Amino acid sequence: MTYDDIRKQFLDYFESHGHKIVPSASLIPNDPTLLFTVAGMVPWKGILQGVEPAFAPRVADVQKCIRAGGKHNDLDEVGYDGRHHTFFEMLGNWSFGDYFKEEAISMSWELLTRVFGLDPNRIVVTTHISDDEATAIWKKITGKDAIRLDKDNWWSAGDTGPCGPCTEMHYDFGSDIPGDLPGSGNEGNRFVEIWNDVFMQYDRDANGVLTPLPKQNVDTGAGLERFASIMQNKQDNYDTDLFMNLIHAIESVTGVKKTDENTPSFKVIADHLRAVGFAIADGVIPSNSDRGYVIRRILRRAMRHGQMLGHRGALLSELYPALIQEMGATYPELAHEQEHVTEIIRNEENAFTDMLQNGMKLLDSELPKINNKTLPGDIAFKLFDTYGFPIDLTQMILRDKGLDVDVAGFEKCMTEQKERSRADTKGTKVLWESQEQLPATDDSAKYMPDTEMQSKVLAILRDGEFVTMAQPGDNVEVALDKTVFYGTQGGQVGDMGELHKDDAIAMTVSETSRANNIVVHKGTLNAPLSVGDIVKPVINLNIRQQTARAHTATHLLQAALRKVLNTDVEQRGSKVSPDSVRFDFSFGRAMTDEEKIAVENLVNEWINADMPVTHEEMDIESARARGAMALFGEKYGDVVKVITAGDVSCELCGGTHIYHTGEILKAKINKEKSISSGIRRITMSVGTLAE
Ligand code: ALA
Repeated sequence: MTYDDIRKQFLDYFESHGHKIVPSASLIPNDPTLLFTVAGMVPWKGILQGVEPAFAPRVADVQKCIRAGGKHNDLDEVGYDGRHHTFFEMLGNWSFGDYFKEEAISMSWELLTRVFGLDPNRIVVTTHISDDEATAIWKKITGKDAIRLDKDNWWSAGDTGPCGPCTEMHYDFGSDIPGDLPGSGNEGNRFVEIWNDVFMQYDRDANGVLTPLPKQNVDTGAGLERFASIMQNKQDNYDTDLFMNLIHAIESVTGVKKTDENTPSFKVIADHLRAVGFAIADGVIPSNSDRGYVIRRILRRAMRHGQMLGHRGALLSELYPALIQEMGATYPELAHEQEHVTEIIRNEENAFTDMLQNGMKLLDSELPKINNKTLPGDIAFKLFDTYGFPIDLTQMILRDKGLDVDVAGFEKCMTEQKERSRADTKGTKVLWESQEQLPATDDSAKYMPDTEMQSKVLAILRDGEFVTMAQPGDNVEVALDKTVFYGTQGGQVGDMGELHKDDAIAMTVSETSRANNIVVHKGTLNAPLSVGDIVKPVINLNIRQQTARAHTATHLLQAALRKVLNTDVEQRGSKVSPDSVRFDFSFGRAMTDEEKIAVENLVNEWINADMPVTHEEMDIESARARGAMALFGEKYGDVVKVITAGDVSCELCGGTHIYHTGEILKAKINKEKSISSGIRRITMSVGTLAE
């Protein structure tokens, strides 16, 4: 039975039992406590908690999940056994206040034994020590005595939120395979958990206090890859059809055949291809923080394994078509985002290829000096800081050689560097401001972000000093005579992108700021760069679009607040980032839930109306006559930009904006809280993040 057959049979079964079938939600959860969607229940957390209405009493789906980098983290296990994945698909069915333990257990049992035809004698069940009810139901339906466990049979997605006791079904691969019963801690390959039925009964708060939920719910999860291994009679998930096809693709891209020795590398690459491909298709951008950093780390681990197979350069970008081939029919976003995903992966691969080779040289030269089988923290830090080796990549490389890393020493270096750079960020602004001979950057093209221009490098700052030339790998700040980059101002974060020289990427720009009238491009060099060089500044248009739509959404938010609350509401600060908005405003009390919903609905109504957004320049008097809102305490020049959205918003604003409100796609208010007396803060997601 193939993956496609299993998905279909699972969903058909639950559909015939009254469940509404829905597509997978995004891997980026709408939940600040999680980095990724780690389970099928994540999109339904609000419903399970009783704070969002259920759209159907019974639901089933196949959900894309990533367990890496957070509380649920399987990254370190991948490659070393046949069961772990960072990305996997979870089959699940839900009851939102409808059926409870008895029906859940009886459907799980029927599906496993009648539909999938598993031998009932091979299924071992566990229940929570406190759960006599589920234990009795198993006995009644199957005659089985459940094994009673504690922690293993209690489930929650995060530290807070809905949770409850669960019952798990394990498959016994047979007595010829080493392993003891579930709960023994020594299950080996013999007993494999295949399905978990969670009885969501409680809400846990930050102090660990359990409050019974208004409704009793069922949340179940079954790993598709494990099902496939059972249905295809393989003990290793990576021997199932989908993975074998990916592994063949890896063989053809690397030109290396899979052998017993190199199998871990094939598994790691196949797994990481799925995590990186799906995450980027859902909108994650590799970066140095949060989920972006998890994806960057996973991608770099995959490249290291490619290197171990003797492969150099692009790897996952070359393999992405094979992923579409295997999974594109079920997940159309893979093909839809192909160009975008491939470009992002390729940029990451280009940036890391040389660093990986050079970092490995450094590491190899350090290995003979190692004492106590432990790599000193400062070397691990140098690998991180200069060659971009995430600490877990270094650990992974050393683990294969039976060596360790002095993590405490590494962290000490990290802290010291953070302190230095905190001092530096203040410092560099002062340094730039002291460069009186530097002309103001001509950034008039920032509103036409795809303008092609040839710019001259006027200054390079490295390690607190202005230099005439810097080398690949150097972290630098660069001023140009003209640029299309928007430097952080007016609450809007600056652009990311690249400086191209002779048609190659000379610098990856991760941040753009302003010092006086100089636009400062910050980032890492990929090629030597000298003062006087001619470069082409190219911004990341996707991120720009995400920031622009967030900025226009901020204006709509302000207009909606004034409409729903009152016209005294005034902006007191804001931070506009890709697809996310933080907005501070004057208002004397907490907003009610109804008010929050009304504001969110109004913003979405204006988005759906797809109103035109006009960008006009005029003198300040005309702008005031037009009724344009100006910011409290802000200084404006004689000529100002006025951004008007339909007939609902008109503001003076120097930021970048979209042209139709429909480009925002959607807005979702996440939080509303007090930040000081009389000032409230709203955080809102827009675009694909909100969707
Ligand atoms: N949410 C449960 C799990 O992930 C079903 O195991």
